[in-house]
Amino acid sequence: MFVCICNGITDSSIRRELQAGARSFNDIQQRLGVAGQCGSCEAQARAIVSEHFGLEPDRFYDAAVTTAGRDDFNTLPPLVAVA
Ligand code: FES
Repeated sequence: MFVCICNGITDSSIRRELQAGARSFNDIQQRLGVAGQCGSCEAQARAIVSEHFGLEPDRFYDAAVTTAGRDDFNTLPPLVAVA
């Protein structure tokens, strides 16, 4: 399934990069260029990353925003404990 239409990136390609060692959405963005143009795929790409690490996307995102602010979200370690 295509996640990023602008760059032709599939969920499989994102999962492959996670298996290859990507540790965050930022890693995925740097490796594949996902969400680098219109950005409409960002939430879905983040959800795949969160799912890979066993986190619920909304709870992970909310916790990151609450504790660090949205700009810092990309630099947070991927295994943030969510209460
Ligand atoms: S759909 Fe991914 S940047 Fe546009």
